[in-house]
Amino acid sequence: MKKIVVTRKIPAEFLDQLENLGEVEVWNSEYEPMPRERFLTEIKDATACLITLSERIDQEVFEAAPHLKVIANMAVGYDNIDLQLASRHDVIVTNTPSVLTEATAELGVTLTLSVARKVIEAQDYVKQGKWQSWGPYLFAGKDLHGATVGIFGMGDIGKAYARRLTGFNTTILYHNRSRHLQAEQELGARYVDFETLLKESDFVVCTAPLTSETENKFDRAAFNQMKNDAIFINIGRGPIVDEEALVEALKHNEIAACGLDVLREEPIRMDHPLLDMEQAVILPHIGSATKETRDNMIQLCVDNIEGVLQRGEAKTQVND
Ligand code: GLV
Repeated sequence: MKKIVVTRKIPAEFLDQLENLGEVEVWNSEYEPMPRERFLTEIKDATACLITLSERIDQEVFEAAPHLKVIANMAVGYDNIDLQLASRHDVIVTNTPSVLTEATAELGVTLTLSVARKVIEAQDYVKQGKWQSWGPYLFAGKDLHGATVGIFGMGDIGKAYARRLTGFNTTILYHNRSRHLQAEQELGARYVDFETLLKESDFVVCTAPLTSETENKFDRAAFNQMKNDAIFINIGRGPIVDEEALVEALKHNEIAACGLDVLREEPIRMDHPLLDMEQAVILPHIGSATKETRDNMIQLCVDNIEGVLQRGEAKTQVND
C-alpha cells in the first residue's frame, strides 16, 4: 500500500480522493505546520506527499525518504524545495500555477489600494474612537489613477495585476528577465531597466519569484533610487527584499509606505521593526487565499499525485 503524507488539514473531499490512491497520513492542523521531526518520520515510508511552503525540502528529507516519487507543493513558488536534489533522487516536484493567478493579482490590487488610501489606519482610527469630525486631509492618500506603476516580475501574476490596472488609467512599466511583447501590446506595458523602474514609478510592485537573481534585489540602493512618495508592494517572496533596508527607507522617508504580503521569515517575529512602522501594511501571506482558489490548488496537488502514482507523469512538474 502506498503512503501519502499530507502536512496540513485539507477538506474531506480531497482526502477521499487521496485515500483511493493509498494510505493517507494527515497532519490535522490548519494553522500549524507538521513538526519537522514528525515529517521526517512520516516521510520514511511515503511514496507521495502534499506539502505547503512551510516545509523545507532538503537533503535531510531526501535521505529520509527512499521511496518518495512525488512532492506536490501547494504553491506556485517552489523555493522551499531543492529541485536539483529532487531530480537526483528521481522525485517529481509539482506546483500550482494558473489556478491562483487571478486571486493573487486581486490581493495585489487590494493591498496596493489599501496602502494608497490608508484603509487599515483609517479603520483602526474609527474603531479606536478617534473619529471626531470630517477633515479636509483626514487620511488623504495617494491616487492610483494616473500614476506610474512599475511591476517587477512579469510572469502570469504580474500580467494579471497589470491587466487589472488598465482600468485605473495608469502608466505601466515593467522589468523582467525577458521581455513580454504580448503584454506590451495588450496592456500597454513598457519594458524598462531596473533603475528606470525604481526612479520613474509612483508604485513599485514586486510579483517575482525568489531566485538567486531576485534575492535581496530591493536593497538600500534600490530604495534610495525610488521616489520619496513611492509606495512599495511585495506579493512575490520575502527574501527579495532586504527588510533592514526597507525599515531604514521608511524611517528616513526615502519612500512613503509599503504593503507586504510576504516576509523573509514567516510568521514575522513580534519584535520585528517593520511591525512598528505605521506606513507598513503587513498581511500573513494570503495572496491566493480565496476558498475557490485554495480548493483548486489542492485539487491540482491531488491530480498531480494521482498522475505520478498511476501513470508516472504530473500535470505541472517543475523539475527536469
Ligand atoms: C504562494 O506564495 C505561492 O507561491 O503559491
